Amino acid sequence: MNSILVSQAQALTSDMTNAVTNMANISALLMQTSSNVDWAGFYLYRSAKNDLILGPYQGKLACNLIPNGKGVCGTTCQKKQTQLVKNVAKFPGHIACDSASQSEIVVPLLDGSHVKGVLDLDSNQLNAFNHQDQKNLEKVAQILVKNSNL
Ligand code: SME
Repeated sequence: MNSILVSQAQALTSDMTNAVTNMANISALLMQTSSNVDWAGFYLYRSAKNDLILGPYQGKLACNLIPNGKGVCGTTCQKKQTQLVKNVAKFPGHIACDSASQSEIVVPLLDGSHVKGVLDLDSNQLNAFNHQDQKNLEKVAQILVKNSNL
């Protein structure tokens, strides 16, 4: 994953505060710039229901709702920490929206100490994401939160 995506995410969102628009374009950016990613998108946290609801994404159909604390996305939301999963088969409670998915990274959307949702990327290859990808995606998440009315 090329680090130029961080400056591209900044350029895409710097003049736009609408969160749906920004999440839609960032999903497309991540799919276009990452050769081994087959799903990229967002789940948004709903405090009233304590769950995550599907947001803008690119890829195959995905589950609409994920309870907080469940799967890789819910774990990221609950712990407010990125989950870098080299092999999803070894992650207890992984939710398989696509049986081809083999590795995954999920980054929290943090506004101070508040979690607004998560950014999720899936790959059909094992060990597709590394710590540099994590740093870049965490920067993209921060850019989205800073520039958008989430
Ligand atoms: N695998 C995720 C569910 C979302 S899909 O990958 C799009 C999880 O375990 O939370």
